[in-house]
Amino acid sequence: MKLNATHAPIAVCGIVLALLFLPRSVAQESHQEEEQTELDLCMERIEDAVKAVRRNLKDEAGRPEALRKVLELELATVEARGFVPQLAGKVPEVERAAFVSDFRRMMIDFQRAELDLEAALLDGDAGAIQAAFDAVRAFEDRGHERFTEDED
Ligand code: HEM
Repeated sequence: MKLNATHAPIAVCGIVLALLFLPRSVAQESHQEEEQTELDLCMERIEDAVKAVRRNLKDEAGRPEALRKVLELELATVEARGFVPQLAGKVPEVERAAFVSDFRRMMIDFQRAELDLEAALLDGDAGAIQAAFDAVRAFEDRGHERFTEDED
């Protein structure tokens, strides 16, 4: 098909728009990828697992699924423990080692709470399960207040 006088300006506009927006969207994407840390990825797995456990807390029929998901939560937490929060780069150098050690310490306590939740799920007492789940959830705010830049 040949380009005539009507098609040409449309084609030119198309090319100009592509040149304007395509590189920008590619640049934005790679920027976002750079910003997400390995710890962020573990945290996303933690978040998904916590949500899946919560969905299966009340109903006894959901218990096998809750037990599968609590293991995923524990595995993601083990991995997360090996990373260093981004914020560590912004604390004064003399405080950095203590900051990183405190992070790992809190992750250990978090892991213990997860193990308590797993044990409660196996024991099957609904009240104890809820209490153990609430204890796990409480770590989100505590951890983020201390180790992330923006409170959520
Ligand atoms: C139920 C518990 C938790 C949930 C659901 C949770 C969830 C999340 C989510 C969704 C993110 C952002 C991920 C992203 O941007 O892609 C995040 C980041 C982060 N969380 Fe958690 N989190 C929990 C517990 C904790 C604990 C206990 C700590 C510390 C001991 C912690 C420390 C952090 C840090 C430091 C980041 C930023 C990542 C970085 O610095 O590279 N979180 N968390």
